[in-house]
Amino acid sequence: MGTFLNSIRCLLNKFLIYIIGVSLFSIACKENIKKRETPYILDIPDAFPEMPIPSHNPLTVEKVELGRKLFFDPILSVDSTISCASCHIPQIAFADHEPQAKGIHGKIGMRNTPTLYNIGYAPYLFMEGKVPDLETQVIAPVQHEEEMGLNLRDLLKRLEKHPYYKKQFQLAFGEKPTPGNFVRALACFERTLISGNSSYDQYINGDTNALTAQQKLGMELFFSERLQCSKCHGGFNFTNYGFENIGLYVHYEDIGLARATADTNDIGKFKVPTLRNISITYPYMHNGSLQTLNDVIEFYNEGGKKNPNKSSLIKPLKLSEAEKKALISFLESLTEEQAYTKYLQP
Ligand code: HEC
Ligand code: HEC
Repeated sequence: MGTFLNSIRCLLNKFLIYIIGVSLFSIACKENIKKRETPYILDIPDAFPEMPIPSHNPLTVEKVELGRKLFFDPILSVDSTISCASCHIPQIAFADHEPQAKGIHGKIGMRNTPTLYNIGYAPYLFMEGKVPDLETQVIAPVQHEEEMGLNLRDLLKRLEKHPYYKKQFQLAFGEKPTPGNFVRALACFERTLISGNSSYDQYINGDTNALTAQQKLGMELFFSERLQCSKCHGGFNFTNYGFENIGLYVHYEDIGLARATADTNDIGKFKVPTLRNISITYPYMHNGSLQTLNDVIEFYNEGGKKNPNKSSLIKPLKLSEAEKKALISFLESLTEEQAYTKYLQP
């Protein structure tokens, strides 16, 4: 009888230990995935303004890391072949070398992939500016038939089943994956993509040897009243974010801003692109129709095609061969080759 009671007690003890163990373990697990909000400090170059961050989506280390993983993960496309980074390639300043973007099943889109550096400063997105912010933009490529082709509901199901994402969404948002926190995480990562340490930047920060004599001549031309490049490509990011028709065509196949406004005066107007990292983001223009910087300078030198909406700033420039070379050499000084490396690792 005594031994029987003892073994019951022993079993009970084991059971209690087991219960305590299990509860401690689950408490520990819950502790592990408590939301964390470690502030993420942006590395903003001295000559850059502060970046506007929406109050509903402050930058945290946890969100940036989640967004980074999502950005590089082909899980975002219907057949798991394409990630954001397939088109926005880090080594190519988060752009690519295709004239027009290539999405799932090799489908060709209508536009050239733009760089994502300094995208956190853009007051609106896309070449006709129809998207107001990075959070709203994310949905477009994922659901776009020619880019990633995945239904958002199916994507969230995939993420919920995935051990890393299950944990990291809890850590970053204290919630399972939702459309709102999916787009917030990607937007947070995109805001960390900053490039502002090219030879040109080193020069304006006081290193007078950072530019060659030829580049300095090109810089003078670029900012001159005669060429007027900086009237549109001005400011810290070499764009005034305006919409302009530069006379690339007499008849535009892609009508640009007019797609958003339905105003014929806007046909052929496109958002002025940044010129940072321009030497590695070829080919150029909204449709990738100009292959080299040489082609671009020849185009501007001729003053563009006849078009009723062409900006009055675009006219024949009568550049000498030496001036063309200097201008190209200056544009090359806006490239920061190694900026991408810090985005490949957490
Ligand atoms: C198939 C290639 C492709 C994929 C995949 C892709 N993009 Fe893009 N992206 C483009 C092209 C092309 C544009 C220009 C579209 C336009 O302006 O009409 C663009 C534009 C953008 C812009 C606006 C840039 C600007 O200057 O206005 C952002 C931001 C962006 N993409 C982020 C992303 C993110 C985040 C992902 C992943 C969820 C992604 N892209 C996936 C090709 C791609
Ligand atoms: C009236 C405003 C305006 C002026 C002046 C101007 N640009 Fe542009 N630039 C644009 C716009 C808009 C685009 C994009 C056009 C398109 O995609 O069809 C562009 C495109 C470019 C591109 C290709 C960018 C890319 O990523 O594809 C380069 C390089 C460039 N411009 C350099 C210059 C230089 C150099 C000058 C001076 C000789 C100059 N621009 C003058 C508005 C301007």
